[in-house]
Amino acid sequence: MKWEKNIIDNLKWPVPITNRKEKEQLAKEIASRIKDKEVIGVGSGSTSYLALLAIAERVKKEKMDIRVIPTSMEISFTCVQLGLPQVTLLDKKPDWTFDGADEVDPGYNLIKGRGGAMFKEKLLIRNSNKTYILIDKTKRTEKLGTNFPVPVEVFPPALVYVDQEIKKLGIESSTLRSAQGKDRPVITENGNYILDVHFTEITNTLEKQIKEITGVIESGLFIGYDVEVLTH
Ligand code: A5P
Repeated sequence: MKWEKNIIDNLKWPVPITNRKEKEQLAKEIASRIKDKEVIGVGSGSTSYLALLAIAERVKKEKMDIRVIPTSMEISFTCVQLGLPQVTLLDKKPDWTFDGADEVDPGYNLIKGRGGAMFKEKLLIRNSNKTYILIDKTKRTEKLGTNFPVPVEVFPPALVYVDQEIKKLGIESSTLRSAQGKDRPVITENGNYILDVHFTEITNTLEKQIKEITGVIESGLFIGYDVEVLTH
């Protein structure tokens, strides 16, 4: 039987990509680093998407054989479109990983998760010996939390409890992220909700304090991770 997968092949990136030129430069840069036979972890968001396009182009041109571990359905769909074979963390350890970010401070601490994929992104980074974070200049900030809230993925029945506990950490606001194309909450790929939280202060211990709350799956704070940041 012919496998009619137009439903996936016809997908386009859903919104206009901001700072596309800069992101395409970063994409080229990361595509130049792949080697034959590598297993590469791929983050989510538009920068990762463009990087994957550039990688696929090189793979095709140079007849390379790589494997990819995606962190979201959107990236997995793109792998299907591009004919890039996918594996999971159960099969393979990534040789290295790349990802985008929403904010990066001078100490290379990050806020991620605008796309809601921070749980799998963090898991992948934890499993990689080397991670590149690709950012255009708009992502640099003196202080985390300046332009973006910290996303917190929450097990749905724990929503009220987690919101109450989060408030004890000192916040300006906590909002249940709403979906587009669906009424009310975003449901993550893991079946959970996201709280977008503006904290009064983002300290070095905040990531651990958030994670200690029962019902929190993960947050988009990445404090003190060993990452190399590539900027354009
Ligand atoms: C996805 O959940 C995020 O962590 C992205 O890495 C982040 O939002 C960056 O997105 P863009 O590459 O689209 O700017």
